[in-house]
Amino acid sequence: MRVTVIGAGYVGLASALAAADVGHDVVVVERDPDRLARLRRREDPLGEPGVAALLRRTRARFEASDAELDRADVILVAVGTPMGVDGRADLSQIDEACRSLAHEARPGAVVAIRSTVPVGTCDRLQTGALRRQRVVSNPEFLREGHALEDTFAPTRIIAGGPPAARVAIERFYAPLRARAGRGVPLLWMSSRSAELAKYAANGFLATKLSFVNEIANLADVVGADARAVLGSMALDPRIGAGHLRPGLGWGGSCFPKDTRALAALAAGEGYDFVVLKAAIEQNARQLEEFARIVERETPADGTIGLLGLAFKAGSADTRESPALALARILANGGRRVQAYDPAVRDAPDAAIGQLAADAVAACRDADAVVVATEWPEFAALDLAALRRVTRGDVLVDGRAIIDPARAVAAGFRYRGVGVQADGDLARFALRAAS
Ligand code: UGA
Repeated sequence: MRVTVIGAGYVGLASALAAADVGHDVVVVERDPDRLARLRRREDPLGEPGVAALLRRTRARFEASDAELDRADVILVAVGTPMGVDGRADLSQIDEACRSLAHEARPGAVVAIRSTVPVGTCDRLQTGALRRQRVVSNPEFLREGHALEDTFAPTRIIAGGPPAARVAIERFYAPLRARAGRGVPLLWMSSRSAELAKYAANGFLATKLSFVNEIANLADVVGADARAVLGSMALDPRIGAGHLRPGLGWGGSCFPKDTRALAALAAGEGYDFVVLKAAIEQNARQLEEFARIVERETPADGTIGLLGLAFKAGSADTRESPALALARILANGGRRVQAYDPAVRDAPDAAIGQLAADAVAACRDADAVVVATEWPEFAALDLAALRRVTRGDVLVDGRAIIDPARAVAAGFRYRGVGVQADGDLARFALRAAS
């Protein structure tokens, strides 16, 4: 099939490369000149595993505009929908893209909206700018750091729109589903259901994490070990083992934006989504409380060895990163933040200054070591070597990835989220008994 993809971000580029690799004729339209130039040199602009190799292997073409858009059978729209006023999704890029393709795309072509858009957006486009085309909501569920893996082997494909568009969508996904080798369900529904399905998934995962973080906090209060508690929950298939790691809060380019957009969507319809609102509030509190722990443990003009800046391991992305937000709180409060992240090359914020070359350099003369991103290399650090360069003896683990016993053996006092060093547990038991 002839396919045009508008936007070469995570969703657009992964969709385009997968489509090209399974045999479609793909043109990608990217308006950022720097990104376009890199893609034309077959360079990965995202730092995603497998993207560079696939760029070299596939014949997807990258253009500033598609001169032959009228040949496209399917047009995937994958532009940004950032957070706008009152938490609502800002649809200006979607509207602009759809206005311009309305005249060039042939009547009857399928326009699949892959971006995350509020319920009703596809209906509005179908009766407005794109009335000659067939508008389908086709949300994407990929995770950063796993963009290609999730695109080639999705847990489900969701699409919804006019019945006449269904055959084209099924044809478009047929080779990808055949390649996946296992039954990837394609769920066809209304565009409104497909739009809500995307927000529901992200909203639920974020809410799950807020609940997990509350359990971890409560474990601290009652002297339980969150790892044991959450580990036991993971074995219940009704709960599911994913997204059960506690921490200093969830972030990234999706959860914060999508939870607020979903809450705003509900509020706009007069529906009070109490659970979601509480999850958002809990997440803000989680970060603030974590910052208070670090502040309590360090002098007001102290130095923090911050391990991690990315919003999660496996990504260089610092958008809405809890680690970066923590760095800002600490720096604004007068502390010096020496940060290191294995994937982030340039300091995303003036408050942080230059980034350290490695974990040891970040922790040199630090009053506290703070783990803010769950990079596996932090779990494997030589803690005794780290302790030799730090001034203070506290290690605050915001991702529950450091073994408290190892931290204590290396001479650190361990502070975590729902995880206590054994010594602390013993002290808790004494305090509780007295
Ligand atoms: C998320 C969803 O997982 C994807 O399914 C969705 O397609 C994507 O948003 C999107 O809408 O584009 P992503 O933002 O890449 O993907 O990140 P996640 O891996 O879900 O992590 C989100 C946040 O939760 C991160 O800050 C992460 O550190 C945190 N997290 C995740 C935890 O604190 N604990 C966990 O157990 C898992």
